[in-house]
Amino acid sequence: MRGLTLRYPIRTLDHQLLFPEGTVLTKETLDALIYSHGTQSYRTSPLLLYGSVKQDCLDFLNTTPFVTIFSDQKEINDLLNLLEAVRFPIPILQSLDYFKAHDFYTYAHVLMVFVLSTILAKDLFPDYQERIRLSATGPTHDTGKVSVPLHILKKTTPLTKMERRFLEHHTAAGYVLLSYYYKDIQHLACKVALDHHERRDKSGYPRGILLEDPMVEVIAACDVYDALIMPRPYRSGAYDNRTALEEITEMAKRNKIGWDVVKALIARNRKSNPHYKEITISAEKRGTPPSYNVYGMIAEETDSKDQAG
Ligand SMILES: [Fe+2]
Ligand SMILES: [Fe+2]
Repeated sequence: MRGLTLRYPIRTLDHQLLFPEGTVLTKETLDALIYSHGTQSYRTSPLLLYGSVKQDCLDFLNTTPFVTIFSDQKEINDLLNLLEAVRFPIPILQSLDYFKAHDFYTYAHVLMVFVLSTILAKDLFPDYQERIRLSATGPTHDTGKVSVPLHILKKTTPLTKMERRFLEHHTAAGYVLLSYYYKDIQHLACKVALDHHERRDKSGYPRGILLEDPMVEVIAACDVYDALIMPRPYRSGAYDNRTALEEITEMAKRNKIGWDVVKALIARNRKSNPHYKEITISAEKRGTPPSYNVYGMIAEETDSKDQAG
């Protein structure tokens, strides 16, 4: 981790200041933060047994288009068995309560990215134990949004430049919060939180680096896909599934994300459930995006950043 300067402070949900604005994130500053608050790890608990998480996941899976992606009951049961092994430090679980109470979209979003990324990981990375480790990165990719004011997260009109920067702060904030709760800056969840808006052509944020870790790429793809197919405050309704998949395909064509993860997502959306390496993708664009969409707009001008949640 080389010198990323924080534009805004980072606080825990109980208002403890971890870093003021202007802090330069380095291994030294992060280690100092982690060990200044003791070396004892936080108690962990299984995510699926926390609150109504398991039932909420099952309810979300019953909605379109997830009913197509998750149509095999045996596979759902296998998936739930795997997900039951995913545990989190208690403060991370408490951040889900915060989102559920104050920003339900983000609550549903992180759970669906959790489930979607787990099923894509099954297709892309065969090792079972490794998949448990990878699955633990989905629910926390947006944990840093606890550091972004709710009026920005829920705004229905174009963000100002300052608000946009504050929103982008969730990546560095998530990295710091997760490093702090895991007491491990090398934890994959920290990397995913920091890098899930990076892109293969280096057009992403916060650092504009090359998106190259395969699991970060899976989360990045699931993040955009879920943001498109769910209703969002900044546009009129959700993208229909075909248009959303076309948008994701466009991202691969423009070298934002890789083809394997796009093919895995599209294969999962086909009723015959072909292997992702065997599918062909139509070049035809037939979908229609929602008519009102201010995502990426700054005041009157537009910005070419990708859709994402
Ligand atoms: Fe994000
Ligand atoms: Fe997200």
